[in-house]
Amino acid sequence: MVSTASEAEERAVESALRPKNLDDFVGQARVRQQLSLVLEASRIRERTADHVLLSGPPGLGKTTLAMIIAAEMNAPLRISSGPAIQHAGDLAAILSSLTEGEILFLDEIHRMSRPAEEMLYIAMEDFRVDIVVGKGAGATAIPLDLPPFTLVGATTRAGLLPGPLRDRFGFTGHLEFYAVEELELVLRRSAMLLDLKVSSAGFAEIAGRSRGTPRIANRLLRRVRDWALVHKIDEIDSSAAAAALDMYEVDERGLDRLDRSVLTALITKFGGGPVGLSTLAIAVGEETETVETVAEPYLVREGLLGRTPRGRIATAAAWQHLGLAVPDHLAAGQAGDLLAELLEPDTDFADN
Ligand SMILES: Nc1ncnc2c1ncn2[C@@H]1O[C@H](COP(=O)(O)OP(=O)(O)OP(=O)(O)O)[C@@H](O)[C@H]1O
Ligand SMILES: [Mg+2]
Repeated sequence: MVSTASEAEERAVESALRPKNLDDFVGQARVRQQLSLVLEASRIRERTADHVLLSGPPGLGKTTLAMIIAAEMNAPLRISSGPAIQHAGDLAAILSSLTEGEILFLDEIHRMSRPAEEMLYIAMEDFRVDIVVGKGAGATAIPLDLPPFTLVGATTRAGLLPGPLRDRFGFTGHLEFYAVEELELVLRRSAMLLDLKVSSAGFAEIAGRSRGTPRIANRLLRRVRDWALVHKIDEIDSSAAAAALDMYEVDERGLDRLDRSVLTALITKFGGGPVGLSTLAIAVGEETETVETVAEPYLVREGLLGRTPRGRIATAAAWQHLGLAVPDHLAAGQAGDLLAELLEPDTDFADN
């Protein structure tokens, strides 16, 4: 069981490991380059930077980048999130207290309420909010000018953002999963900060199981550290890392318990699919959103799960990964074409 105390510790370590500037931010070369240009240009023009939208799966560095933007612009940072903004008034209170050049970071921006969203469009474009005074028929809207600010929005679900909101961002950075070599760099940096001795092969072993995600890499590193401490191991090599991670049920492909339970449910309860996402989520006892944003992107990317118009399917590789015999209809030969057609990772299918 994870206690609150250890969760707080995890968060503290996570923030200690956050890179503080663009140069320390590993990987994402494209986004880093584009962002650096946006920031540099705004410094030259002595204007606040354009609004920035960061999208991508959890743990790839959206919050980290928002903090880096504020640091690079030498500007104060205000942090809030979509779910925290239930009423337009909540947003009005935040917006009207911004100072010139301030960076407003709105995490999970796709979860903001509609009225707040509409207020945000105007604020982003015209730097103005309408403050409603009074109630009912006597209510009047008083326009209030805002100082120029930069909105940094983060979302794990860019597809859920309404077009008008998406269009008001001057720059959208889409974060991609990290290559193993990039994760090794993330791990090297973290190991140095945590004062841990790890061999190159040890880094490679951990990176290979980190699902392309720096947050997971750092988390696995801490678990390996615990294991090494208890087993009195001074330098962590690949076999120590492997033994530790096997114990935490992170397999050599980086699948954790949730991933495997999604695949197992898909195969054992629904014969490999197709099955709707929400049904699948219920079968594994998770929120639909957790399955969709945490497990699915990696499973799709690994070619273990496919999204089809009729629901999710397990690929031949999934059956193999779980050590099961691949059913005839997926077996080599006819599978290639069918899968090529079905595996359309970017298509957003309705959840049915
Ligand atoms: N490019 C990177 N280089 C080094 N460390 C990174 C990088 N990206 C992320 N990290 C590490 O991963 C952790 C998680 O990153 P972050 O909190 O920014 O993810 P996120 O995209 O905001 O996730 P979520 O969607 O869950 O909010 C950070 O603590 C940071 O240490
Ligand atoms: Mg975040």
